[in-house]
Amino acid sequence: MKAIQYNAFGSSEVISLVEVPAPEVKNESDVLIQVKAASVNPLDMKIRMGYMQKMRPVQLPFTPGLDASGLVVAVGTGVTQCKVGDEVIVATMGNAYAEYVVANENFVSLKPKNISFEEATSLAVNIGTAQTILFTEGKLDKGHKVLIQGAAGSVGATMLQLAKNKGLYVIATASGKGVELVKSLGADEVIDYKTQDVSTLVKDVDLVADCAGGETQAKLFEVVKAGGKLLSIAGMPSAELAEKYNVDARFISSDLSAKSLEYGLTLVSEGKLKPFVAKTFSLEEAAQAQDFVSAGGVNGKVVILIN
Ligand SMILES: NC(=O)c1ccc[n+]([C@@H]2O[C@H](COP(=O)([O-])OP(=O)(O)OC[C@H]3O[C@@H](n4cnc5c(N)ncnc54)[C@H](OP(=O)(O)O)[C@@H]3O)[C@@H](O)[C@H]2O)c1
Repeated sequence: MKAIQYNAFGSSEVISLVEVPAPEVKNESDVLIQVKAASVNPLDMKIRMGYMQKMRPVQLPFTPGLDASGLVVAVGTGVTQCKVGDEVIVATMGNAYAEYVVANENFVSLKPKNISFEEATSLAVNIGTAQTILFTEGKLDKGHKVLIQGAAGSVGATMLQLAKNKGLYVIATASGKGVELVKSLGADEVIDYKTQDVSTLVKDVDLVADCAGGETQAKLFEVVKAGGKLLSIAGMPSAELAEKYNVDARFISSDLSAKSLEYGLTLVSEGKLKPFVAKTFSLEEAAQAQDFVSAGGVNGKVVILIN
């Protein structure tokens, strides 16, 4: 089969298209999927640059790709949640930029029928991450107040929709054309982070969901109520500031299991949560696809179309 691989860490120049044997079902919980589309996530580039080798090491040669959509073509003897011929969404944490991928059935969800493979592949990382931050770790419910930093980004726009469907009060930060996007998704308040200072405009939120990281994270402590939470998917929060402001501040790794995706995918099938695909590329163009995401300013997911 065709797959993307690299043998060294570095810029997108390390990426090449290769012929490798297709993976096979080896364990009773394995599902073999013919990949229709795979998504490009910022973590793909952090792994490719070698930045994740301490925290989440990968072995070379490595095939990138954290999530995909496709058709089930074989299943292990113990698989009960899907069958050959099903259209599915899968979180793989590697190996998805390829014509076939194998995953444990706990990470395979049925694709909502009302969306394309292209749209479906944009969902696993986004929904799993949003669910983990808002509900599994954040423990938010109707009426709670959340500030989403980076709400027009790929994860942020999904998190905003999940939050509004649950009846949360959402303050969204965005910039440029992202400001109109987050308004259209129902944000109760919008802050243009390039021209406004969030720390003077917002106070006492139950949770800050930080999807951007960087130096601006420090200011976010000032907007959380005492005893509230600052959960980040994009950088380790300062323990010193957490103590100073009496905030439960943590870096969160998302739960991308099928169970974690259940609520979000139900909303998708009911037409209440919209996937956003910013641009598509072919497998041969995987390096350009990654560079496009790295350049920034993208609203929505960049998707690689495969079979
Ligand atoms: N821990 C986990 O399990 C996990 C899971 C998924 C993703 N992530 C990480 O989460 C981050 C977001 O992922 P993504 O796919 O949503 O990326 P993305 O689509 O690039 O979104 C990032 C967003 O952050 C915004 N942003 C950048 N600087 C900002 C600032 N100073 N203040 C406010 N917003 C700012 C950007 O807005 P502009 O375009 O307007 O600059 C953009 O909308 C990445 O670092 C990714 O690796 C972690």
